[in-house]
Amino acid sequence: MCGIIGIVGKEDVTHRILDGLRRLEYRGYDSAGIATLVDGKTLDRRRAEGKLINLENVLRENALPGKTGIGHTRWATHGAPTVGNAHPHTTEKVAVVHNGIIENFRDLRQELTAKGHVMETETDTEVIVHLITDFIGEGLDARGAAAAAIKRLRGAFSLAIIFEGDNGLMIGARKGTPLVMGHGDGEMYLGSDAIALAQLTTKITYLDEGDRVELTHDTARIFDVDDREIIRPMNIVSAASGMIDKGNHRHFMMKEIHEQPAVVGQTLGTMIDPIQGHVTLPDMPFDLAKVDRVTIIACGTSYYAGQVAKYWLEQMARINVEVDVASEFRYREAVMPEGGLAVFISQSGETADTLAALRYAKSQGQHILSILNVPQSSMERESDVVLHTHAGPEVGVASTKAFTCQLSVLACLSIAIAKARGKIDDKEEARLCIALTEAPARMADVLNHEEAIKTLADDVAKARDVIYLARGLEYPIAMEGALKLKEISYIHAEGYAAGEMKHGPIALIDEDVPIIVIAPSGRLYEKTVSNMQEVIARKGQVIFITDEKGAASDGQDAVATIALPMLDEFVTPILYSIPVQLLAYYVAVAKGTDVDQPRNLAKSVTVE
Ligand code: F6R
Repeated sequence: MCGIIGIVGKEDVTHRILDGLRRLEYRGYDSAGIATLVDGKTLDRRRAEGKLINLENVLRENALPGKTGIGHTRWATHGAPTVGNAHPHTTEKVAVVHNGIIENFRDLRQELTAKGHVMETETDTEVIVHLITDFIGEGLDARGAAAAAIKRLRGAFSLAIIFEGDNGLMIGARKGTPLVMGHGDGEMYLGSDAIALAQLTTKITYLDEGDRVELTHDTARIFDVDDREIIRPMNIVSAASGMIDKGNHRHFMMKEIHEQPAVVGQTLGTMIDPIQGHVTLPDMPFDLAKVDRVTIIACGTSYYAGQVAKYWLEQMARINVEVDVASEFRYREAVMPEGGLAVFISQSGETADTLAALRYAKSQGQHILSILNVPQSSMERESDVVLHTHAGPEVGVASTKAFTCQLSVLACLSIAIAKARGKIDDKEEARLCIALTEAPARMADVLNHEEAIKTLADDVAKARDVIYLARGLEYPIAMEGALKLKEISYIHAEGYAAGEMKHGPIALIDEDVPIIVIAPSGRLYEKTVSNMQEVIARKGQVIFITDEKGAASDGQDAVATIALPMLDEFVTPILYSIPVQLLAYYVAVAKGTDVDQPRNLAKSVTVE
């Protein structure tokens, strides 16, 4: 969480830092701030609580010149989201922006306070500026003081640091959270990701764990965790990755929902040969046929994609699958017999818990396969093999297109494992591939139901609680639907396995609780419909999301029925994601919440 950017520039930097922060706002929007070396010598800063627009207003009133500067957009960890706690943090000597958490900040704070340093904020970050200032006071120069201070920090951090009187010098460091360096023409940049720097350069160096970098206008010296000077490669990233706009849509989330047929098609296209009807995955440094155990780890929406894959893998590949949320998995000392396959799913590739779980699985001798959207992420660098989702940049904090692309990759992976284990033959593989390749067109059909879903939103928006019910492959979609509604409309929602209702949750049902039942035709259809009838018998207000066949046979009993196109059961989770996304979106719009940047959330969760 938190986004940082720094520019050692030839021209004034404030407006360019603001542009970078705009691209980083998905990482947090509790406050924002910029510090520069005004007139090349004197540190000054502007900060504002809340979204970037507030900082823009502050800067309009009170401009901030300077050719060397740093900026920050915050997701609060320590200390309320106030102006006082906003980054950059400064002393008379140093200004710092920080993403991460300094775990030993209490000890450092005590030590520095005892030496006479006066702390003004509730943040963990403030100790960094005082620590550097302290080392400068002991006679170290800026570079030496920063290096010495960084060695004292425990926890996770990406830092950009500038120094009073030292125009054209910036120091960066990373441990546990991402940081990239950009190369310009007589300028150098730091950023939390390449997208932050997209307007400035396409020449990017990804810094490694433990790296410290000293930047001037035209030099970059990188030191590794053992303080050895090293060279890291420069990559040319696509300029297109920086082109992020809403198109004709009111929100990024709506744009991203509508992009799904295209990006799912693109993602499937990288793995399925539609003529031969088979799945081709990149070369694996291990034999899929020999894998007899799969552990899938992720957080949030990505975790629900993993839950769907459990059903696919168990049914098709007849293999043992365990799925867990990374925040629990990383600490529970799971037993992982050597040679198992550990699959990590992450849109950002930076989620702190998922990354820690990946490292644990690696230490247990697992083969590490990650399914990632953002290229060149920390997880990418630590995985044995990566399957990319080709969703493109996802800006809306609520994940939509990344999720359906994750499902698409997981469907292909499941087919490949089933095939490698001899559990499906060529004919069955071809049948599954054909079903998958139909998904994008059917997804486009589902988007035609947008108006019908929109008309339901006003009523759902009045509810205090909403329950989603489903079985089998759609059960994770019920949980994902509930998560989507919670996070953007702030309505309490739960996804339940329909068969579990009578073991407790059915007590919640009354005429004020909308129940979203997700039930495509298939093996478990009748069971789910029986559960739906139990709810209707207790005056539950059911919105029935089914297919044309289901709507014809049972649609009349629900308050509203959405009839999706018929499709092979295998592919239904990809298709049925769309109506729950649309419902959450229109409920949020009806409630007037901030759809793309819901309260308290951030897109990339780099703290645990
Ligand atoms: C919800 C959402 C989050 C993320 C979760 C994991 O809409 O987006 O639940 O899925 O924070 O993030 P990644 O996939 O980046 O690891």
